[in-house]
Amino acid sequence: LLLLLLLLSLLLLLIVRGLLAYLVHKRRQIKSIPLGEGWWGAGDKPLSEDDKIYPFQVQTSDQEIEDLHERIDKTRYTDPLEDSCFQYGFNSTYLKKVVHYWRNQFDWKKQVAVLNKYPHFKTKIEGLDVHFIHVRPPHREGQRVLPLMLVHGWPGSFYEFYRILPLLTETQDGLAFEVICPSIPGYGFSEAPHKQGFDSLAAARVFLTLMERLGFSQFYLQGGDWGSLITTNMAQMKPHVKGLHVNMMMSSRGLKVLLSLLIGPYLPFLVGLTREDVRRLFPFFERNVYEILRESGYMHIQATKPDTAGCGVNDSPVGLAAYILEKFSTWTDLKNKDLVDGGLERKFSLDDLLTNVMIYWTTGSIVSSMRFYKENLKTNIDNRVDSRWIFVPSGLAAFPGELMHCPRSWAAIRYRNIRSYTFMPRGGHFAAFEEPKLLASDIVQFVKKVEKC
Ligand SMILES: *[C@@H]1O[C@H](CO)[C@@H](O)[C@H](O)[C@H]1NC(C)=O
Repeated sequence: LLLLLLLLSLLLLLIVRGLLAYLVHKRRQIKSIPLGEGWWGAGDKPLSEDDKIYPFQVQTSDQEIEDLHERIDKTRYTDPLEDSCFQYGFNSTYLKKVVHYWRNQFDWKKQVAVLNKYPHFKTKIEGLDVHFIHVRPPHREGQRVLPLMLVHGWPGSFYEFYRILPLLTETQDGLAFEVICPSIPGYGFSEAPHKQGFDSLAAARVFLTLMERLGFSQFYLQGGDWGSLITTNMAQMKPHVKGLHVNMMMSSRGLKVLLSLLIGPYLPFLVGLTREDVRRLFPFFERNVYEILRESGYMHIQATKPDTAGCGVNDSPVGLAAYILEKFSTWTDLKNKDLVDGGLERKFSLDDLLTNVMIYWTTGSIVSSMRFYKENLKTNIDNRVDSRWIFVPSGLAAFPGELMHCPRSWAAIRYRNIRSYTFMPRGGHFAAFEEPKLLASDIVQFVKKVEKC
């Protein structure tokens, strides 16, 4: 009898579980997620808002540069531990070299002219001045021009796209992109939200409004880091988006993933993993748990008390540079921690790196950029409305230096319409900044697949 009872309850359990799974499954199949609404300006919401688009130029002044130099000259450094390279964070001996360059050779006025090479604009959306650059390809007879929005992440900016832009606006096989790169509100020249709760869903809605205001109803999206989540949310809100290309995928959890972890190293084909997946995923705990724990302290701080740590980095240019550039070292290649100079200048020039730092410094936007973590990590990821499926044609570029590898079979749990998945030969987290050619050609081949040309 006991055995029978046990069997019966097991059966009941299975049925209930199956039913639950079915309901969750049904919920995820809903074609689009709600747009929602929000208003993030200071004080009360006005009755109406100016929706014109204004040209904008990055500006600087002698005063701004003198203030920076004064602060740099007063920096207090801490000596690194012997033979520590970048293991304890940014090696201050190398930091002094970077700062020496920043103080004596780096020419912000020249870099401002570089930034202004492309046309900038601002427009008010949901109470915030939203900044973006908008670059049209030179006119050519008979070419097809497709609108494409590129969205950056943290601690990057629209400037990450300056080297990929000319590649995308150039005509290839009769195809060229008209590119829009916005700054996430709270990052660089986009106004920071004044109210709590501005998360990736809000950013997605703001950018959809931006595209609508620019007159685009059909367009492509591309993103890495937060940009990947924001563009994914945009695709979930507007299922008629033509295509979504991301260079970072958040893998789902669940039975399928668990099974591939257990069986993957031995019989990868049984659980939909390729040999390259196995190479990039395992040893799983070392790569995806311990390594991530060692690398994600910043995230814990930013997701809990961003304003506290923010006081220091918003006040000290050198502190800010160390905080931001450490990520450009480690997230390009984890092995860079074992190099005395963090490998920073292997892939980037100091001019490019410091220009990105200056975008945060001159706009005083590091704290508001950090808050984005808190707003997004408030709720359990699985309970968020965007845990649902994505039906828009999707292209995924898996760069080997990315912090976490997401196999195609895991991505396919959420991205239901994958048209292309590429194991990129080299490059890390800041793909557009680091490997513009590789990323551009992957975007182009994806779009060609979607357009069938
Ligand atoms: C820090 O960087 C400098 C300059 O690149 C290097 O010479 C030094 O060995 C590094 N220090 C440590 C502790 O790794």
